[in-house]
Amino acid sequence: MATLRLDKFLALSGERSRSEAARLLKSGLIMVDGLVERDPARKIDPVLQQVTLAGEMVADQRLQYVLLHKPAGVLTAARDHRARTVMTLVPDSLLRRKVLPVGRLDKDTTGALLFTNDGELAHRLLAPGRHVLKEYHAWVEGALDEDDVTAFAQGLQLSDFTAQPAQLTISGVSAEKSLGVLLLSEGKFHQVKRMFASRGHEVISLHRAAFGPLRLQDLPQGAWRVLTASEIRTLREAAGLEPGLPDPSSSTRITTS
Ligand code: URA
Repeated sequence: MATLRLDKFLALSGERSRSEAARLLKSGLIMVDGLVERDPARKIDPVLQQVTLAGEMVADQRLQYVLLHKPAGVLTAARDHRARTVMTLVPDSLLRRKVLPVGRLDKDTTGALLFTNDGELAHRLLAPGRHVLKEYHAWVEGALDEDDVTAFAQGLQLSDFTAQPAQLTISGVSAEKSLGVLLLSEGKFHQVKRMFASRGHEVISLHRAAFGPLRLQDLPQGAWRVLTASEIRTLREAAGLEPGLPDPSSSTRITTS
Protein backbone atom coordinates (compact mmCIF):
# COMPACT_ATOMS: atom_id res chain seq x y z
CA MET A 1 0.00 0.00 0.00
CA ALA A 2 1.11 3.54 -0.64
CA THR A 3 2.51 5.67 2.14
CA LEU A 4 0.66 8.71 3.37
CA ARG A 5 1.17 11.51 5.87
CA LEU A 6 0.49 10.54 9.46
CA ASP A 7 -1.92 13.44 10.07
CA LYS A 8 -3.89 12.45 6.97
CA PHE A 9 -4.01 8.81 8.03
CA LEU A 10 -5.25 9.80 11.51
CA ALA A 11 -7.86 12.08 9.98
CA LEU A 12 -9.11 9.42 7.56
CA SER A 13 -9.17 6.60 10.06
CA GLY A 14 -10.89 8.44 12.88
CA GLU A 15 -13.20 10.83 11.06
CA ARG A 16 -11.38 13.74 12.64
CA SER A 17 -10.06 16.88 11.01
CA ARG A 18 -6.40 17.36 10.10
CA SER A 19 -6.10 19.98 12.89
CA GLU A 20 -7.54 17.57 15.46
CA ALA A 21 -5.06 14.99 14.24
CA ALA A 22 -2.28 17.53 14.64
CA ARG A 23 -3.39 18.22 18.23
CA LEU A 24 -3.31 14.49 19.02
CA LEU A 25 0.18 14.28 17.60
CA LYS A 26 1.33 17.22 19.74
CA SER A 27 -0.09 15.56 22.84
CA GLY A 28 2.36 12.65 22.46
CA LEU A 29 -0.40 10.03 22.45
CA ILE A 30 0.42 8.75 18.99
CA MET A 31 3.03 6.06 18.53
CA VAL A 32 4.36 4.56 15.30
CA ASP A 33 5.82 1.10 15.76
CA GLY A 34 6.07 1.69 19.51
CA LEU A 35 7.79 5.10 19.40
CA VAL A 36 6.09 8.43 20.11
CA GLU A 37 5.69 10.41 16.91
CA ARG A 38 4.81 14.11 16.86
CA ASP A 39 5.54 14.98 13.25
CA PRO A 40 2.32 15.35 11.21
CA ALA A 41 4.31 15.10 7.97
CA ARG A 42 5.83 11.72 8.88
CA LYS A 43 5.11 9.28 6.03
CA ILE A 44 3.71 5.92 7.11
CA ASP A 45 2.54 2.73 5.46
CA PRO A 46 -0.65 1.71 7.32
CA VAL A 47 -0.22 -1.92 6.31
CA LEU A 48 3.37 -2.36 7.33
CA GLN A 49 3.46 -0.03 10.32
CA GLN A 50 1.48 0.00 13.52
CA VAL A 51 -0.07 3.25 14.68
CA THR A 52 -1.52 3.50 18.17
CA LEU A 53 -3.52 6.19 19.94
CA ALA A 54 -3.15 6.05 23.72
CA GLY A 55 -1.97 2.45 23.36
CA GLU A 56 -4.93 1.31 21.22
CA MET A 57 -4.53 0.36 17.58
CA VAL A 58 -6.01 3.02 15.32
CA ALA A 59 -9.38 1.72 14.10
CA ASP A 60 -8.54 1.56 10.43
CA GLN A 61 -5.74 -0.86 11.10
CA ARG A 62 -7.65 -3.47 13.05
CA LEU A 63 -9.17 -5.38 10.17
CA GLN A 64 -6.78 -6.63 7.58
CA TYR A 65 -7.42 -8.58 4.40
CA VAL A 66 -4.49 -9.98 2.48
CA LEU A 67 -4.19 -12.42 -0.42
CA LEU A 68 -1.09 -14.61 -0.53
CA HIS A 69 0.11 -16.56 -3.57
CA LYS A 70 1.12 -19.65 -1.65
CA PRO A 71 4.13 -21.44 -3.10
CA ALA A 72 4.57 -25.22 -2.88
CA GLY A 73 6.51 -26.59 0.08
CA VAL A 74 5.00 -24.47 2.86
CA LEU A 75 2.43 -25.67 5.35
CA THR A 76 -0.90 -23.90 5.93
CA ALA A 77 -0.73 -23.81 9.72
CA ALA A 78 -0.43 -21.16 12.40
CA ARG A 79 2.76 -22.87 13.60
CA ASP A 80 4.72 -26.04 13.13
CA HIS A 81 7.78 -27.38 14.91
CA ARG A 82 9.58 -28.54 11.80
CA ALA A 83 8.08 -27.31 8.53
CA ARG A 84 8.04 -23.77 7.19
CA THR A 85 4.54 -22.31 7.40
CA VAL A 86 2.60 -19.71 5.41
CA MET A 87 2.93 -17.41 8.42
CA THR A 88 6.56 -16.81 7.46
CA LEU A 89 5.38 -15.26 4.19
CA VAL A 90 3.31 -12.41 5.63
CA PRO A 91 4.95 -9.45 7.38
CA ASP A 92 5.23 -9.21 11.16
CA SER A 93 3.06 -6.11 11.22
CA LEU A 94 0.14 -8.21 9.97
CA LEU A 95 0.90 -11.12 12.27
CA ARG A 96 0.84 -8.70 15.21
CA ARG A 97 -2.70 -7.90 14.10
CA LYS A 98 -3.50 -11.58 14.37
CA VAL A 99 -4.26 -12.35 10.74
CA LEU A 100 -4.71 -16.06 10.02
CA PRO A 101 -5.26 -18.07 6.85
CA VAL A 102 -8.88 -18.79 5.96
CA GLY A 103 -9.04 -22.52 5.25
CA ARG A 104 -6.01 -24.42 4.04
CA LEU A 105 -4.12 -25.53 0.98
CA ASP A 106 -2.03 -28.71 1.04
CA LYS A 107 1.73 -28.34 1.37
CA ASP A 108 2.26 -29.09 -2.33
CA THR A 109 -0.67 -26.94 -3.55
CA THR A 110 0.01 -23.44 -4.85
CA GLY A 111 -2.35 -20.49 -5.19
CA ALA A 112 -4.76 -18.08 -3.58
CA LEU A 113 -4.87 -18.06 0.21
CA LEU A 114 -6.76 -15.36 2.09
CA PHE A 115 -5.48 -14.04 5.41
CA THR A 116 -7.64 -11.91 7.67
CA ASN A 117 -8.33 -10.98 11.27
CA ASP A 118 -12.01 -10.41 10.42
CA GLY A 119 -13.30 -13.34 12.44
CA GLU A 120 -16.90 -12.96 11.35
CA LEU A 121 -15.95 -13.16 7.68
CA ALA A 122 -13.58 -16.11 8.21
CA HIS A 123 -16.24 -17.96 10.15
CA ARG A 124 -18.79 -17.41 7.39
CA LEU A 125 -16.38 -18.43 4.65
CA LEU A 126 -15.61 -21.70 6.42
CA ALA A 127 -19.12 -22.57 7.59
CA PRO A 128 -20.63 -25.59 5.81
CA GLY A 129 -23.05 -24.51 3.10
CA ARG A 130 -21.53 -21.02 2.96
CA HIS A 131 -18.40 -21.85 1.04
CA VAL A 132 -17.56 -19.54 -1.82
CA LEU A 133 -16.75 -20.91 -5.26
CA LYS A 134 -13.10 -21.85 -5.71
CA GLU A 135 -11.28 -22.39 -9.00
CA TYR A 136 -8.62 -25.10 -9.12
CA HIS A 137 -6.28 -25.94 -11.98
CA ALA A 138 -5.21 -29.57 -11.71
CA TRP A 139 -2.69 -31.47 -13.79
CA VAL A 140 -3.75 -35.08 -13.46
CA GLU A 141 -2.51 -38.43 -14.70
CA GLY A 142 -4.22 -39.93 -17.76
CA ALA A 143 -6.76 -38.57 -20.22
CA LEU A 144 -9.80 -36.77 -18.77
CA ASP A 145 -12.97 -37.28 -20.81
CA GLU A 146 -16.65 -36.34 -20.95
CA ASP A 147 -17.55 -39.17 -18.53
CA ASP A 148 -15.38 -37.44 -15.92
CA VAL A 149 -17.12 -34.12 -16.60
CA THR A 150 -20.53 -35.77 -16.12
CA ALA A 151 -19.46 -37.61 -12.97
CA PHE A 152 -18.17 -34.37 -11.39
CA ALA A 153 -21.39 -32.58 -12.39
CA GLN A 154 -23.52 -35.30 -10.79
CA GLY A 155 -21.66 -35.27 -7.47
CA LEU A 156 -18.92 -37.84 -6.90
CA GLN A 157 -19.38 -40.56 -4.31
CA LEU A 158 -16.27 -40.63 -2.10
CA SER A 159 -15.60 -43.13 0.70
CA ASP A 160 -17.17 -41.01 3.46
CA PHE A 161 -19.37 -38.45 1.68
CA THR A 162 -20.92 -37.46 -1.63
CA ALA A 163 -19.30 -34.38 -3.08
CA GLN A 164 -21.58 -31.57 -4.20
CA PRO A 165 -21.87 -31.20 -7.98
CA ALA A 166 -18.81 -29.46 -9.38
CA GLN A 167 -18.03 -28.05 -12.80
CA LEU A 168 -15.06 -29.62 -14.57
CA THR A 169 -13.68 -28.19 -17.81
CA ILE A 170 -11.01 -30.11 -19.68
CA SER A 171 -8.44 -27.58 -20.73
CA GLY A 172 -5.73 -29.85 -22.13
CA VAL A 173 -5.50 -33.57 -22.70
CA SER A 174 -3.01 -36.23 -23.78
CA ALA A 175 -2.77 -39.96 -23.08
CA GLU A 176 -0.32 -39.30 -20.21
CA LYS A 177 -1.77 -36.26 -18.50
CA SER A 178 -4.56 -33.69 -18.62
CA LEU A 179 -5.29 -30.25 -17.29
CA GLY A 180 -8.67 -29.87 -15.60
CA VAL A 181 -10.20 -26.61 -14.38
CA LEU A 182 -12.54 -27.30 -11.51
CA LEU A 183 -15.10 -24.98 -9.94
CA LEU A 184 -16.39 -26.14 -6.60
CA SER A 185 -17.62 -24.61 -3.40
CA GLU A 186 -16.94 -27.33 -0.83
CA GLY A 187 -13.58 -27.49 0.90
CA LYS A 188 -13.12 -30.81 2.64
CA PHE A 189 -9.69 -32.27 3.43
CA HIS A 190 -7.83 -33.18 0.20
CA GLN A 191 -11.15 -32.88 -1.60
CA VAL A 192 -9.92 -32.04 -5.09
CA LYS A 193 -7.23 -34.74 -5.05
CA ARG A 194 -9.75 -37.26 -3.74
CA MET A 195 -12.32 -36.35 -6.39
CA PHE A 196 -9.87 -36.85 -9.25
CA ALA A 197 -8.43 -40.01 -7.65
CA SER A 198 -11.94 -41.48 -7.41
CA ARG A 199 -12.06 -41.24 -11.23
CA GLY A 200 -8.65 -42.91 -11.56
CA HIS A 201 -6.70 -39.68 -12.13
CA GLU A 202 -4.00 -38.97 -9.55
CA VAL A 203 -3.30 -35.26 -9.19
CA ILE A 204 0.21 -34.35 -10.30
CA SER A 205 0.01 -30.69 -9.30
CA LEU A 206 -2.73 -28.44 -7.97
CA HIS A 207 -3.14 -24.68 -8.12
CA ARG A 208 -5.97 -22.51 -6.77
CA ALA A 209 -6.47 -19.62 -9.19
CA ALA A 210 -9.42 -18.02 -7.42
CA PHE A 211 -11.04 -17.97 -4.01
CA GLY A 212 -14.55 -16.57 -4.39
CA PRO A 213 -14.20 -13.22 -6.12
CA LEU A 214 -10.46 -13.02 -5.36
CA ARG A 215 -8.10 -13.79 -8.22
CA LEU A 216 -4.33 -13.91 -8.02
CA GLN A 217 -3.85 -12.08 -11.32
CA ASP A 218 -0.15 -11.26 -11.66
CA LEU A 219 0.81 -11.80 -8.04
CA PRO A 220 4.09 -13.81 -8.07
CA GLN A 221 4.44 -16.96 -5.99
CA GLY A 222 5.35 -16.16 -2.40
CA ALA A 223 4.05 -12.58 -2.66
CA TRP A 224 1.02 -11.06 -0.96
CA ARG A 225 -1.17 -8.06 -1.59
CA VAL A 226 -3.77 -6.13 0.36
CA LEU A 227 -7.33 -6.54 -0.95
CA THR A 228 -8.94 -3.53 -2.55
CA ALA A 229 -12.04 -2.03 -0.92
CA SER A 230 -14.15 -3.40 -3.75
CA GLU A 231 -12.73 -6.91 -3.29
CA ILE A 232 -13.55 -6.78 0.43
CA ARG A 233 -17.07 -5.64 -0.40
CA THR A 234 -17.66 -8.45 -2.91
CA LEU A 235 -16.12 -11.04 -0.63
CA ARG A 236 -18.35 -10.03 2.28
CA GLU A 237 -21.35 -10.12 -0.02
CA ALA A 238 -20.36 -13.59 -1.28
CA ALA A 239 -20.18 -14.72 2.36
CA GLY A 240 -23.68 -13.39 3.02
CA LEU A 241 -22.56 -10.39 5.07
CA GLU A 242 -23.34 -6.71 4.71
CA PRO A 243 -21.10 -5.46 1.91
CA GLY A 244 -19.83 -2.45 3.90
CA LEU A 245 -16.72 -2.71 6.02
CA PRO A 246 -17.65 -3.75 9.56
CA ASP A 247 -17.07 -1.54 12.56
CA PRO A 248 -13.66 -2.89 13.56
CA SER A 249 -14.37 -2.60 17.27
CA SER A 250 -17.44 -4.84 17.01
CA SER A 251 -15.87 -7.58 14.94
CA THR A 252 -14.67 -10.81 16.48
CA ARG A 253 -11.00 -11.54 16.06
CA ILE A 254 -9.77 -14.91 14.93
CA THR A 255 -7.93 -16.64 17.71
CA THR A 256 -4.96 -18.87 17.10
CA SER A 257 -5.60 -22.53 17.83
N1 URA B 1 -8.17 -29.88 -2.43
C1 URA B 1 -7.05 -30.62 -2.27
O1 URA B 1 -7.05 -31.82 -2.46
N2 URA B 1 -5.93 -29.96 -1.88
C2 URA B 1 -5.87 -28.63 -1.67
O2 URA B 1 -4.82 -28.11 -1.33
C3 URA B 1 -7.06 -27.89 -1.85
C4 URA B 1 -8.19 -28.53 -2.23
